[in-house]
Amino acid sequence: MKKREVSRTLLLLTLAGSIGATSLSSCSSQESGEADTETTTASNDQAKMEIKKEAFGKTKEGEETTLYTLTNANGMQLKVTDYGATITSVLTPDKNGKLGDVALGFDSMDGYQSDAYLKSGPYFGSAIGRYGNRIAKGRFTLNGQEYKLAQNNGENHLHGGTKGFDKVIWQAEPLADQNALRLTYVSPDGEEGYPGKLTTTVTYTLTDDNEIKIDYTATTDKATPVNLTNHSYFNLAAGEANDALDHVLTINADKYTVVDGSLIPTGEQRAVKGTVMDFNTPTAIGARVKDVEGGGYDHNYVLSNSDGTLKQAATVYEPTSGRMMEVLTTEPGIQFYSGNFLDGTIEGRGGKTYSKHYGFALETQHFPDSPNQKDFPSTILEPGQTYKSSTVYKFSVKENAQ
Ligand code: GLA
Repeated sequence: MKKREVSRTLLLLTLAGSIGATSLSSCSSQESGEADTETTTASNDQAKMEIKKEAFGKTKEGEETTLYTLTNANGMQLKVTDYGATITSVLTPDKNGKLGDVALGFDSMDGYQSDAYLKSGPYFGSAIGRYGNRIAKGRFTLNGQEYKLAQNNGENHLHGGTKGFDKVIWQAEPLADQNALRLTYVSPDGEEGYPGKLTTTVTYTLTDDNEIKIDYTATTDKATPVNLTNHSYFNLAAGEANDALDHVLTINADKYTVVDGSLIPTGEQRAVKGTVMDFNTPTAIGARVKDVEGGGYDHNYVLSNSDGTLKQAATVYEPTSGRMMEVLTTEPGIQFYSGNFLDGTIEGRGGKTYSKHYGFALETQHFPDSPNQKDFPSTILEPGQTYKSSTVYKFSVKENAQ
């Protein structure tokens, strides 16, 4: 048997739960002499999963990109490309066990390079850095020096600039024994106007509890703002609905950061109680979306339970499929974005038109414009320190789903 076939057999056997780890490792080592460039399989006694690797297409500049597929014991799948450390696909079961894709994205680089996509800039599934969200007027002062960043969102700076971490190729390293993919990007001093050479890693782990765990680290050689996040859009109906307005959302936040007309915080943290911003009790996204200033939710919530360890930030439930998603994070904030700028110009997976509110994002983060806001938690990383941040998207099916 070829190693690839052995891996598949192992996968199936493991899925059926019919053999133990010891026999897995002995089987695997018998065949380990054969070269296999398409999969990375764990070879120790934890061995059970393979990480598939395939070509994903070229960037406009002609660089090759690669797609990695992680599968867990339940058959859940996570696909990540090294272009922008981007999550392209998340296959999870519904209440009948049927797998469906709950992430907005494309099956090749063509989608991420199309004019419509680049023009509307939705950042589907991408890693966002060096600074997620907005910095007012693309300026901040640090240690007495003013820095000027790319102004790529009106006069403001958004999501790391013109060529942020979502548009670069990361160095990928499959960690098959952890069912994880580690991606590394070294951002040179001065890139997009930021000070310091910043080395960032993002590790995506797919657990057998149907969790996508995202762990970030970063180190720098000069003080710099850092605020890393992931910009996945979800629709838990997996192609069976034309918007996400029926999804029932809970956000564990008593306050949000008030913004001006260009979505820059005024500095005020306002109570959500009694307003359309309150998601402390489960509420459909669409219930009050029309009453939100600016055409929908695009706000940073101040998480009530935040203490730097992983805490539940939000839950989302889609009644038709029965799918649930929980978001846990070490971050103090979460941007709830209800897909307001999706304008129907992008054709997505399965020929679906991604129109307004088709998907939503829950971006864990420090607060927007922190480098200019003295009362917000600091986002400055100093040389010698290590930035660390973790977020979990956990998928399940609600017990009493109809
Ligand atoms: C973030 C921003 C939004 C929008 C999207 C991408 O969520 O807060 O205003 O820019 O990214 O379209």
